[in-house]
Amino acid sequence: MPEQSTPSSRPRVLSGMRPTGKLHLGNYMGALHNWVKLQDQYECYFFIADWHALTTDYADTSNIAPATMEVMKDYLAAGLDPARSVLFLQSKLPEHAELFLLFAMITPLGWLERVPTYKEQQENLTGKDLSTYGFLGYPLLQAADILIYQPQFVPVGQDQAAHVELTREVARRFNQFYKIGDREVLPEPKVLLTPSPKLPGTDGRKMSKSYGNTIELTDPEPEVRKKLKTMVTDPARIRRTDPGDPDKCPVGDLHKLFSTPETLAKVYDGCRSAGIGCIECKGWAADALVQILNPIQERRAALTDAGVKEILEDGTRRAHARALQTMAEVRSAVKLA
Ligand code: TRP
Ligand code: SF4
Repeated sequence: MPEQSTPSSRPRVLSGMRPTGKLHLGNYMGALHNWVKLQDQYECYFFIADWHALTTDYADTSNIAPATMEVMKDYLAAGLDPARSVLFLQSKLPEHAELFLLFAMITPLGWLERVPTYKEQQENLTGKDLSTYGFLGYPLLQAADILIYQPQFVPVGQDQAAHVELTREVARRFNQFYKIGDREVLPEPKVLLTPSPKLPGTDGRKMSKSYGNTIELTDPEPEVRKKLKTMVTDPARIRRTDPGDPDKCPVGDLHKLFSTPETLAKVYDGCRSAGIGCIECKGWAADALVQILNPIQERRAALTDAGVKEILEDGTRRAHARALQTMAEVRSAVKLA
């Protein structure tokens, strides 16, 4: 029997999400599902970046606390396990802000202005004034979130890769200026690109909260079936007698991700020969989704608000101990009195 490794002998990973509210199947496939699997091999730190929510939602903060609870419930429902992962809340850890401040001192403005999401988001979120210092500093706060746990890997999707790259540059610069003797205190973490399969929403575009095309992890079975019924299909298949192509159909994409090989074979044959109708095909896709969602919803139903808060507080205490350890080294390296 292989030796059971203690958590601390495993490589450490850290990742987080902004509290956007209830998570959908896209969040699950793009992040959570991968995080759950990482728990077998890594020492895991996963958190909710509620300060990061302030960078865009500073004018109305009323959604942030409720959304934080929903995300935490989805973390647990998806299978993040407080016995194997440290689950915590960013805003309870002032040391993240302290490290962010120290990074602010050494980071050239140009590094932040060049981060691709900076201009993109400013152009996309036109209803908000994002010409703030906090919004520009978003990736620097993220660098502090990461480096304060000295992880080897940061599991994120492609969309966050530039932020991890900046984190590495910040670590390098910090280590150039500050050391303990000749020892570097902030190792450069590597991005661990998590597979983010193409997951279409009900309108065929990428599943995204801002498109209103999502299937939530909490959607009950009738709701899932209803959403599937309105889902777009191969546009070439207008009549029941027209053959179609699952490779050109968002429902086909769902089958590829979630259905058994047997069902998938029936979909390809039936669609291409017009042997099955789209309604039947969508029913099978809904069956597969319901199978994924059922255990998640059962775990969620067993959670209480008080229990969730306790888990979050306990994880936050453990994260705090780890963050304090790094900050002791950081303060010593910076050499303030
Ligand atoms: N920027 C990330 C997102 O939008 C959230 C985040 C904040 C994060 N700090 C992090 C992710 C540190 C990974 C590591 O999803
Ligand atoms: Fe799409 Fe299925 Fe209809 Fe083919 S039969 S077009 S895969 S919904």
